[in-house]
Amino acid sequence: MNTTTTTNTAHLTPTNETAPTSVELAASMAAAVRHRYGSADSVELERVAVPTPRRRQVVIEVEASAIDRGVVHLMTGLPLLLRVAGFGVFRPKQPVLGSDVAGRVVAVGADVGRFRVGDEVMGVANGAFADYAVANIDKLVMRPANVPVEHAAASTISGITALQALTAVGRVRPGQRVLVIGASGGVGSFAVQIATALGAQVTGVAGAANLESVRALGAVHAIDHRTTRIDEIGSTFDLVIDIAGRNPLRRLRRVLTPTGTLVIVGGEDGGRVTGGIGRNVRAALLSLFTRQRLTAFISKESTEFIAPLAEMLADGSVTPLIGARTDLAGVSDALDRLERHGVAGKTLVTIGGGS
Ligand SMILES: NC(=O)c1ccc[n+]([C@@H]2O[C@H](COP(=O)([O-])OP(=O)(O)OC[C@H]3O[C@@H](n4cnc5c(N)ncnc54)[C@H](OP(=O)(O)O)[C@@H]3O)[C@@H](O)[C@H]2O)c1
Repeated sequence: MNTTTTTNTAHLTPTNETAPTSVELAASMAAAVRHRYGSADSVELERVAVPTPRRRQVVIEVEASAIDRGVVHLMTGLPLLLRVAGFGVFRPKQPVLGSDVAGRVVAVGADVGRFRVGDEVMGVANGAFADYAVANIDKLVMRPANVPVEHAAASTISGITALQALTAVGRVRPGQRVLVIGASGGVGSFAVQIATALGAQVTGVAGAANLESVRALGAVHAIDHRTTRIDEIGSTFDLVIDIAGRNPLRRLRRVLTPTGTLVIVGGEDGGRVTGGIGRNVRAALLSLFTRQRLTAFISKESTEFIAPLAEMLADGSVTPLIGARTDLAGVSDALDRLERHGVAGKTLVTIGGGS
């Protein structure tokens, strides 16, 4: 898909006297674009200008990216709260979708320090469903040599959410009993593996079709959310990672030990305006009056969490669950499929023929 015809390097600032600041880039590129909020029909393959890096940014030739629920939210502009949170009130500020990225640095802006043209990187980019994407260097790490491009591309957004939910927020400890609700999805498939790697005993809640893969990820028990309510499992847990299902707080508290921790990550169907943020607020307030710790958080996209995730990919303690694959032209259909039917783990978007 990439072409190398027209030079697009005039904007670049050298970072030192010897390293090249860009390879020769085409002026335009293919991208999965939408100009209004809406359904997957609004996403089309277009040719757009290749982005240019600002200070502390690089341009990446994208080898692969991935789809998760967050992309669906940015596509629909729902809940409405996210529009006022900076993504564009009436129309999306960034027409190109996609955040997960793995690829090669092809241009560097000023003050990028550790990155050079030619570096193989992974992390979070702005508009990754495209031949080229710009990324802030504080959201990128070098891709470990033994981590395939596809694994790196399918991991960051969901993996760092799971990592933060379990560690920075959930403070998981070896030997604890952890309940992951939504265990077969993007975030949950990482949460099961990371909790297991950290020595916890995991029970995963997912749909019947995905229970086997939840066990394969490391869960000791796998429960079908269509047949068993969480308070019918018959156990209590030191840590509950609530990713899906929108169980009421009182039910979530019933499956926690008296001093257990609840971490609310997400959950669909929370309402068009706020996405059901009221449950998070109620949890924080209630937490002041109980020995249970009831929390919610927004994932921080930072090398602070991307670097340890990359290490876990490199040492084999986590591997992304890739439930579907597409290319740039198939992004619209893949988003439609995720929205309507769900996908186990992540949908990989192959762009530049990565290894
Ligand atoms: N706080 C943050 O910063 C943050 C970051 C990322 C994502 N999120 C949010 O987290 C949520 C999950 O994201 P994701 O990418 O993991 O989504 P996903 O890939 O669609 O996964 C959803 C999971 O939920 C399961 N599920 C569906 N209905 C359920 C129910 N009634 N009870 C229990 N489990 C149920 C699905 O299981 P089956 O398909 O097997 O039925 C699947 O395992 C979304 O709401 C997203 O917006 C929040």
